[in-house]
Amino acid sequence: MSYRRIVHVVGARPNYMKIAPLYRAMEEYSALEQILVHTGQHYSPEMSTHFFDELGMPRPDVNLDVGPGSHAVQTARIMEAFEPVLLDRKPDLVVVVGDVNSTIACALDAKKLDIPIAHVEAGLRSFDMRMPEEVNRVLTDRISDYLFTTEASGNENLAKEGVPDSMVHFVGNVMIDSLVTHLPKAMARPTLETLGVSDGEYLLVTIHRPSNVDDQATLRSLIDTLREAAERKPVLIPLHPRTRSNLEKFGWLEDVMSAPGIRICDPLGYLDFLRCQRGAAAILTDSGGIQEESTYLGIPCVTMRDNTERPATITHGTNRLIGNDRSQILAALDTALGTRSGAHPVPPLWDGKAAERIASVLLS
Ligand code: UD1
Repeated sequence: MSYRRIVHVVGARPNYMKIAPLYRAMEEYSALEQILVHTGQHYSPEMSTHFFDELGMPRPDVNLDVGPGSHAVQTARIMEAFEPVLLDRKPDLVVVVGDVNSTIACALDAKKLDIPIAHVEAGLRSFDMRMPEEVNRVLTDRISDYLFTTEASGNENLAKEGVPDSMVHFVGNVMIDSLVTHLPKAMARPTLETLGVSDGEYLLVTIHRPSNVDDQATLRSLIDTLREAAERKPVLIPLHPRTRSNLEKFGWLEDVMSAPGIRICDPLGYLDFLRCQRGAAAILTDSGGIQEESTYLGIPCVTMRDNTERPATITHGTNRLIGNDRSQILAALDTALGTRSGAHPVPPLWDGKAAERIASVLLS
């Protein structure tokens, strides 16, 4: 083993469930010192601290507390705050996950200080450079030393970009590791009763992509579509802060909250949200991670985007890529309802052991 001190970076909600299993797997290596850094990109308790408790993660050793800001401001603040941590702690390796601003900001700092980088969830491509996440993915992969992929498309994309095979490791999906570990606990919670929905009898909806919620006409059309969807089954929407603030800005929040069949709640914790996914008749989303979790759970998923960086959820899973057109969403929903079944295939290596494989590549 050559690495003795590793820094793990978390920053935003989709990061915590990816680092948690990795941190746990690396605890098996007793000579290793692990340092957990939280950038503070997400800062509200429901988007951040609650997850640490639920996932059984230690509190971060270092909090950068960068808070909100434009992409440039946020990325710059993280870079400025993370560099002194690297200079002080002198890690041998920095682990970054996913595609958020914290991922690229911390990877850039590490690269400039000649510290090796491991990127977990490498190689995913939507081929849409208008998505901030796509920019973050491509650039992070370009400067990383270890590229850990979750699905075959990741390996293919990296090969086409000229990344040597020796740097790429197909290990499976750490997010599914967390799901496998925590699903029994999630299923024991009274989430559905508390939220007033019945098992298998509601639609779970998440929307927060700028392309869906920042433009007034697009958001209006999606809200109208959800009102129609609610005529089929009750609709449960844990509301992302970005979506809430846009609904407020456009003066529609009250209207949506009182719409028949629509139940709005605050963003849910990890376990409650897993329970809601498992109990849904179908899921409508524009999230990346939920396409993967619903595939593992075998819940039909209608993705309200024009592209996905996670094609295995379509070829091996329950996902359908539909875009944000009203009639297409409703038609896909009608097809999806009724296809929820017990037995379902999952993509290769989505087996709950991805973190062990990563630890073994880096530390054995
Ligand atoms: C970020 C990620 C996205 C991820 C999403 C999950 C990037 C480029 N985007 O997008 O990939 O899917 O997180 O949530 O990194 N806010 C709060 N409390 C918080 C965090 C945010 O109120 O804890 C508010 C912000 O002030 C802002 C809005 O929510 O007004 C959007 O947050 P931001 O982190 O800028 O981007 P996301 O859209 O959440």
